[in-house]
Amino acid sequence: MTEETFVPAASEWYYPSDEVVKNAYIQDYDAAYAEAMADTPAFWAKRAETLDWYQKWDKVLDDSNAPFYKWFVGGKTNIVLNALDRHIKTWRKNKLALIWEGEPGDKHTYSYWRLWQEVNKFANVLRSMGVKKGDRVTIYMGRIPELVIAMLATAKIGAVHSVVYGGFSEQALADRIEDAQSRVLVTCDGAWLRGNIVELKKIADQAVHKSPVVEHVVVVKRTGHDVHMQAGRDFWYHDLMALPIASTNSETEVMDAEDPLFILYTSGTTGKPKGILHTHGGYQVYTSTTLQWTFDIKDEDRWWCAADPGWITGHSYIVYAPLILGATGFMYEGAPNFPYPNRWWKLVEEYGITILYTAPTAIRGLMRFGDAWPKRHNLSSLRLLGSVGEPINPEAWKWYHSVIGGNKLPICDTWWMTETGGFMITPLPSVGLKPGSCTRPFPGIIADVVDDEGNSCPPGVEGKLVIKNPWPGMLRTVYGDPERMVKTYFSTYAKQGWYLAGDSARRDEDGYFWIIGRIDDVIKVSGYRLGTAEIESALVSHPSVAEAAVIGVPDEVRGNVIYAYCLPRAGVAISEELVDKLKQHVRDEIGPIAVPAKIEFVSVLPKTRSGKIMRRVLKARAMGMPEGDTSTLEE
Ligand code: WTA
Repeated sequence: MTEETFVPAASEWYYPSDEVVKNAYIQDYDAAYAEAMADTPAFWAKRAETLDWYQKWDKVLDDSNAPFYKWFVGGKTNIVLNALDRHIKTWRKNKLALIWEGEPGDKHTYSYWRLWQEVNKFANVLRSMGVKKGDRVTIYMGRIPELVIAMLATAKIGAVHSVVYGGFSEQALADRIEDAQSRVLVTCDGAWLRGNIVELKKIADQAVHKSPVVEHVVVVKRTGHDVHMQAGRDFWYHDLMALPIASTNSETEVMDAEDPLFILYTSGTTGKPKGILHTHGGYQVYTSTTLQWTFDIKDEDRWWCAADPGWITGHSYIVYAPLILGATGFMYEGAPNFPYPNRWWKLVEEYGITILYTAPTAIRGLMRFGDAWPKRHNLSSLRLLGSVGEPINPEAWKWYHSVIGGNKLPICDTWWMTETGGFMITPLPSVGLKPGSCTRPFPGIIADVVDDEGNSCPPGVEGKLVIKNPWPGMLRTVYGDPERMVKTYFSTYAKQGWYLAGDSARRDEDGYFWIIGRIDDVIKVSGYRLGTAEIESALVSHPSVAEAAVIGVPDEVRGNVIYAYCLPRAGVAISEELVDKLKQHVRDEIGPIAVPAKIEFVSVLPKTRSGKIMRRVLKARAMGMPEGDTSTLEE
């Protein structure tokens, strides 16, 4: 494909105003990049020096056991030391750390002082339950402040959090509890979504029934509906927080820079999700630097990252990085269009949001309701916009830029992954933009597009996206399965030691990156990352399905939707009712986000002679396109 077909005309490129450039932390990207590359460990050391450490590191980077890199070796810290403790010794203690609005319209604010106190109290509650350094705590909640408090309290005492997104079902939750071997689960009675209650406690009960490793369940009262509380196992959060044990005095555990901070499960090529592990030292340096430089966070800003804390975007850019920077963050509990499609724009206006960071799927969803909804609101507080999770299509880019950004705001399209901890390829506000490109690598990062042999692809030619050097925010391992980390990310280019992202991409003549999409069996649905193998194994776990194949098919709003092809077991009668049953079954096994838009029964699945399902053929058929090379196809 030639360049003209994917790079929009130069007349559509965007150049930041002098004011944006003048305000930016980094006014000259090329100079910053060159400086970082001249001596990368020294560059990261300089960034690390902006944070507090109990004890300074001996060595910035230990690459003796690559790809198991270690950063800030010998350093002692705790991410909570930087996210909270250090701020309450300054004027920042009075600054708002978190502004929150619930879907029904209730509001809460937390100053750094108050957030620090709540975290200390809950840290003591967790300690009183016997949670110690290195223990895992699973958190399964809606978007409420107590979720942030539970994460920080867990980190504070040196335990490891595993947040499971509230849209996952009981089986998905049970699997993740089991894998992490968490003895404590923190949840809430329910979450508000589109005026309805999502019964999280009920789902949690079923999950705990399946994975009895859980000894204690802490329940935040959010929706107030009746829930079952099992005596001796379940405790109300507010009761525990009122006990004398929940004092506001709580020591922050001194952690080694490489001690684990959290596990976050993400989908890959097999049915079993991977527990991506991040640590205290490198992650705090990487997330805070990337947020500060990319979104130019200043003290007077009101930052809204509209993701869910249950995903990496929320971990890095709702919870940790903004707090480390002493910023004021905003969080909203519910659906963007509840009760009307102007809810987000009303929130931007009411809270004076200055920087909004969201996903293309959300933009497309809101765009669908028309311009009148945002136009009713004064959005002039906004100064920067951001996007993440999937490629942003030109139409959505234009709408976001013109209707939300008043024809003047830049859109920072950030490419990164759960595994990378923070932004990898992203514009800085002072950089010229081409709609649809995530521009160039963050200073300190060497990204490339290569062919199967590892040669750099010429401009315009599609290839595999790789990262050629280590960075402080990179994953440390796959929890409990270090081999899988090597195999998944570092075996394709083992000789060169490069990290394989799993995306295909192109670069243009100016070195700008254009992400095309996943090359493995991962599908992005509404920005959520799902594995075809997970959905297929959910389908075949139903007694009526013998075999299943799942593909992602492009969708205007959601990026992709799931189509499933099922081979019924002998004697199974096919009906509409069965389709509904299977949809419900996937909902129970994984969650509503994984439910196929379409389930079709087939008498045969296209396979290679070695028995591998050719999803490519199914996809071509579903989209009415040529099937390509089918020479390996079995009869
Ligand atoms: C995709 C989300 C295009 C990509 C932070 C990647 C993107 C996967 C972008 C990781 C972007 C993320 N443009 N594609 N700006 N950002 N992706 O782990 O396919 O949920 O591999 O992390 O999302 O998804 P994950």
